[in-house]
Amino acid sequence: MKRIIPVIAACFVMTVLVDATVDAQRTPQNVQVLTDLSTRDIREYMKSVSSGIGEKCDYCHNLKDYASDEKETKLIGREFIRLVEQVNEQVTAINSNVMKKEDLQLVTCYTCHAGELTIISEE
Ligand code: HEC
Ligand code: HEC
Repeated sequence: MKRIIPVIAACFVMTVLVDATVDAQRTPQNVQVLTDLSTRDIREYMKSVSSGIGEKCDYCHNLKDYASDEKETKLIGREFIRLVEQVNEQVTAINSNVMKKEDLQLVTCYTCHAGELTIISEE
């Protein structure tokens, strides 16, 4: 019995540690716009951000700390995520008597960037 108790105690401590790690992965640490999303959903969303502007994750992130705001490009990215969210609020508010909901396409980074950081606009 004396030997079993420390083993059980060690298992308990390990379970708590594993839970804490999983939690840290699930709960976003530093979001101001994508506040309704889990970390998993944010990662999915970020794939479309990356391909939409043609840049990898490290363009905006310190890959050891995704929550960090140390890169200026992440701050710019946040403003554009906000812009996209606001535009899409308006898109979904378009009068359904005039245009059917199923005909509406949501705006993404790709809508303007077409897979490139630099916007090419011709008059
Ligand atoms: C154009 C810049 C940009 C790119 C590229 C980008 N991200 Fe992000 N990412 C952001 C911004 C901005 C936020 C914070 C969003 C907010 O404030 O709502 C964020 C948040 C996150 C978070 C949540 C971090 C936290 O606070 O806990 C994760 C995880 C993440 N990104 C992963 C990725 C991955 C993986 C990729 C590549 C597939 C990627 N990001 C590409 C800008 C970017
Ligand atoms: C309504 C059109 C539009 C949408 C949608 C859009 N952008 Fe942009 N973005 C622009 C314009 C215009 C510029 C300025 C382009 C330039 O200076 O070459 C820009 C510039 C940027 C820059 C700075 C580029 C640089 O060279 O410094 C980043 C980063 C960026 N956008 C990220 C994003 C991300 C991430 C998304 C999606 C969440 C997004 N944008 C969605 C129009 C848009």
